[in-house]
Amino acid sequence: MTNKKKHMSWIWQPWPSSLHRKTDNMLAKVTVCLLLIGVSYRLLFYPSGSGVKQLVSTNEINRNSTDKGKCNLFDGMWIPNPSGPAYTNSTCRFIEDHQNCLMNGRPDKEYLHWGWKPYQCDLPLFDSYLFLDVMRDKTWAFIGDSILRNQVQSFLCLLSKAEEPVELYHSSDFKSRRWLFRKHNLTVSLIWTPFLAHAEIFENENGVSDAPIQLHFDILDQSWSTTYTKFDYVVISGGQWFLKYAVYWENNSVVGCHNCPDKSHAELGYEFAYSKTLQLVFRHITSLIGEHIPVVIFRTWTPSHFENGQWFDGGICNRTVPYNEGEFNGSDVDHGMREVELREFEKARKVMESSGKLNYLKLLDTYQLSLMRPDGHVGSYRTFPRFDKNRKRKVQYDCLHWCVPGPIDAWNDIIMEMVVK
Ligand SMILES: *[C@@H]1O[C@H](CO)[C@@H](O)[C@H](O)[C@H]1NC(C)=O
Ligand SMILES: *[C@@H]1O[C@H](CO)[C@@H](O)[C@H](O)[C@H]1NC(C)=O
Ligand SMILES: *[C@@H]1O[C@H](CO)[C@@H](O)[C@H](O)[C@H]1NC(C)=O
Ligand SMILES: *[C@@H]1O[C@H](CO)[C@@H](O)[C@H](O)[C@H]1NC(C)=O
Ligand SMILES: *[C@@H]1O[C@H](CO)[C@@H](O)[C@H](O)[C@H]1NC(C)=O
Ligand SMILES: *[C@@H]1O[C@H](CO)[C@@H](O)[C@H](O)[C@H]1NC(C)=O
Repeated sequence: MTNKKKHMSWIWQPWPSSLHRKTDNMLAKVTVCLLLIGVSYRLLFYPSGSGVKQLVSTNEINRNSTDKGKCNLFDGMWIPNPSGPAYTNSTCRFIEDHQNCLMNGRPDKEYLHWGWKPYQCDLPLFDSYLFLDVMRDKTWAFIGDSILRNQVQSFLCLLSKAEEPVELYHSSDFKSRRWLFRKHNLTVSLIWTPFLAHAEIFENENGVSDAPIQLHFDILDQSWSTTYTKFDYVVISGGQWFLKYAVYWENNSVVGCHNCPDKSHAELGYEFAYSKTLQLVFRHITSLIGEHIPVVIFRTWTPSHFENGQWFDGGICNRTVPYNEGEFNGSDVDHGMREVELREFEKARKVMESSGKLNYLKLLDTYQLSLMRPDGHVGSYRTFPRFDKNRKRKVQYDCLHWCVPGPIDAWNDIIMEMVVK
C-alpha cells in the first residue's frame, strides 16, 4: 500500500469533540490499506485579488430589485459585510473542534466578512427569535452526512442566540443527535445516513475500512425512513460518499460496483449510484403524500476546493477571499453530481405538483454560492497547529467542510427565508 492512501477516509469523519484527540492519534498510526476512490478534481489555479471591487459595483446595479416573490435566493454574489458573523467561537458552544477555525488559530479573518446578496432582493440575516416563535412545537430533522452536521452546528449557533437547546440524545459515535429548545418546544434531530439508502459500511470509528461498502439501491436507510413522517421539516442532503469504492445491490443481487478490483462486476459509476439512490429517496417522499408529511428541503451538492493536489496527496485551500464570478466553475465531479440531483429533484417536483403538494418540496440550492467560497473551508485549521507540529507530519487540509462561523451560515439564512417568509 502507498503512503498517500493512508488517511483517505478522515475527511468524511464526524470528529465529535470528545473523540478527536484519540482519532488524531489513531489516524497517525493507521496502516490499513484503504481503497481508492475515483475522484479526479480538475485543478484550477487562478490569481485572485482584483475581485472585490468588481463584486461590489455589479451588486449596486442589482441591489434595488426587491421583488421577493420573484427573487431567486440562489442567484447572487458575495458582498462585503463589515459587521461579520452572527456569533463566534466564544459565544457558541455547538462548534465541533475540527470546524472551529477561530479556536484553531486561523489567522486571516476576511472570510468572515462577506454576506450573500441575491441579485433580485436582499437576504435578511437569520432571526433566531422569529424562527423559534414560528417553529413552536415543531420538529426538524437534518438527514445526511457530515457536511449536513457541519450545517447543523451553524444552525444551532444561530438559534442559541435566542435560546440554548438541551441535548436529548446522541448515538455512541455522536453522529446522530437530538436537541430540544425547551421554551419553544422545538426539536431538532440530526440523523447520520451518508447514503440515505441502506449501506453496510465497514469502517471503524477512525474511518478505516477493510471491506468495500455494500450499497442497496432498493432499500432506504431505516434510520430516517421509518420516522420520516413524524417530522414537520426535514433537510436532506448527500452525495460525497457516493464517490467511494462500493459494491451495488438491487433485489438481493449484486448489480455492479464503482472502482472495484473485482472485474466480474460491472463498473456502474458513482453518478449512476447517486441517481438510483435519489430515485429511491424521492419515491419515498412522493409516495407518502396522503399522510402527514414534512416539508422536505433538499440541499444540493457541496463543492470542495482542493488545489495543487487532492485531499489525500497534499491538496490545499489557503485562499482568503471569494472567487470572482466565472473564476471557478467547479470540477467535472461537481457538474456530474449536480446534474444528477437537479434531474431527480425535477422529476419529484413534478409529482408533488400534480398532487397539489408543491409547497412540501423545496430545493436549497447552495451549490453556486458555495462554489464562490474557496476561502470558507477549514483548510489546515482542523486542529490547533501544535497538535500537528508535535507529530511532524504534513498537515492535511480539509477543503470540503466549512469553518463555523463562515459562509455556511448563509445556508441557514436562506432556510429562514424559505420557510418563515
Ligand atoms: C431604486 O428604487 C427606487 C424605488 O423603486 C427608485 O426611486 C430608485 O431610483 C432606484 N434606484 C436605482 C439605483 O435604480
Ligand atoms: C476563540 O478564538 C480565539 C482566537 O480567535 C481564542 O483566543 C479564544 O480562546 C477562543 N475561545 C474559545 C472559547 O474557543
Ligand atoms: C411539544 O410539541 C409536540 C409536537 O412536536 C407536541 O406533541 C407536544 O404536545 C408539545 N408539548 C407541549 C408541552 O406543548
Ligand atoms: C428489481 O425488482 C424490481 C421490481 O420487481 C424491478 O422493477 C427491477 O427491474 C429489478 N431490478 C433488477 C436490477 O433486477
Ligand atoms: C497558498 O499556498 C501556496 C503554496 O504553498 C503559496 O504559494 C501561497 O502563497 C499561499 N497563499 C496564501 C494566501 O497564503
Ligand atoms: C466559467 O464559465 C463561464 C461561463 O460559461 C466562462 O465565461 C468562464 O471562462 C469559465 N471560467 C473558467 C475558469 O473556466
